[in-house]
Amino acid sequence: MRIVVTGGAGFIGSCFVRTVLAGEHPGLAGAEVVVLDAFTYAGRIENLDPVRDDPRLRVERGDVRDPRRVAEVVGDGGVDLVVHFAAETHVDRSITGAADFVTTNVVGTQVLLQAALDGGVGRFVHVSTDEVYGSIDSGSWPEEHPLEPNSPYSAAKAGSDLLARSYHRTHGLDVVVTRCSNNYGPHQFPEKVIPLFVTRLLDGGRVPLYGDGRNVRDWLHVTDHCRGVALAATKGRAGEVYNIGGGTELTNRELTTRLLAAVGAGEDRVEHVPDRKGHDRRYSVDWSKIRDELGYTPQVAFDEGLAGTVAWYREHRDWWEGLR
Ligand SMILES: NC(=O)c1ccc[n+]([C@@H]2O[C@H](COP(=O)([O-])OP(=O)(O)OC[C@H]3O[C@@H](n4cnc5c(N)ncnc54)[C@H](O)[C@@H]3O)[C@@H](O)[C@H]2O)c1
Repeated sequence: MRIVVTGGAGFIGSCFVRTVLAGEHPGLAGAEVVVLDAFTYAGRIENLDPVRDDPRLRVERGDVRDPRRVAEVVGDGGVDLVVHFAAETHVDRSITGAADFVTTNVVGTQVLLQAALDGGVGRFVHVSTDEVYGSIDSGSWPEEHPLEPNSPYSAAKAGSDLLARSYHRTHGLDVVVTRCSNNYGPHQFPEKVIPLFVTRLLDGGRVPLYGDGRNVRDWLHVTDHCRGVALAATKGRAGEVYNIGGGTELTNRELTTRLLAAVGAGEDRVEHVPDRKGHDRRYSVDWSKIRDELGYTPQVAFDEGLAGTVAWYREHRDWWEGLR
C-alpha cells in the first residue's frame, strides 16, 4: 500500500507518518509513505527524524497549489490513499493576512482532489476541523450541523471540506472527511496556545491570555487524532464525515492554570491581552459516530498528555529555541 501524506512535515502530519511507519495503525501496517510538503515555516524536516532512515519513507518537496507537481506525486496510478493535512493553520495569521489560507486550503485541496481523481487514487481522507461549525454555547455539533465558520482560517477550511464532499458527490471519488478538535502534543509550532505558553514559561516569560479567558476548547492528544484519522482511512464509509474529539473541555483560563502548575509558575506570569477578533466562544464536537461505527475512543488522559508535552518541550529546546 502506498500513502501520500500532505503536510507530513507539520505537527499532526508528521505524527501520522511516524505512527504509520511504526506500525501503530492496523490496516496501514507495512505501508510505504510519501510525504508531500512545501516546508513553510510550519513544516520541519526534523519532525521526521525518527523515521528518516526508514526505506518505506520518501519525502517530496512540493506545493499543493502546483498542479504539475501534485500530479507527479499523487497521479502516477500507484497511490492507494491520500491523507491531506497540508494547510495554513494559525487563526491569528489568517486575521492579519488571509490570502495564503485561501490559496493553500481551498485551491490546494481542489488541485489534490483533481489529481487524485485523474490518478485513480483509492481513497482520499480530508483532514478538516471542528472550527468549520462556528461557535456553540451549549451542546455539541453532530456531523450534519451546517457549517458556519467565523475566521478566515475556518472559512477556508470549510471551503476545502465542501470541495472534498463535492468530489465524492459529483465524481464518485472515495472521500472521507474528519473534523477534529484542538490538538496538542510534541512537535507543535510554538505559535499555538499550548506550545506558546509552555515555551514562554520555560524561558521565564509571561503568557498572553486573550480576553476574559473563558473561551472553551476540547483538547485532543495528537496521537489520538492520528488514531481517529487512521480508523477513518481504513474503516470509514465513503462520502461520510467523522468528528474526532478528545473529551476534555477546558476554558483557556483553566488551561493556563494547568500549564502554570506544570512548570511551577505563579499567576504573576499571566498577561491579560485584548481578545482575538471574532474569537469563537466554544467548540464542541459530538464524536459518537466515530466511536459507534469505527470503535474510536481517545486513549490519552489530558493530564498525562499535558505532562508528556511539557516534558518534551523542556527536553527539546533545540527544536523550538530558534523559532520564536
Ligand atoms: N492543530 C490543530 O489543533 C488542528 C485542529 C483541527 C484540524 N487541524 C487540521 O489538521 C491539519 C494539520 O494541522 P497542523 O496543526 O499539523 O498544521 P501545521 O501548521 O503544523 O502543519 C502544516 C503543514 O502543511 C505544510 N503546508 C502548508 N502549506 C502548504 C502548501 N501550500 N503545500 C504543501 N504543504 C504545505 C506545512 O509545511 C506544514 O508541514 C490542517 O489541515 C489543520 O487544518 C489541526
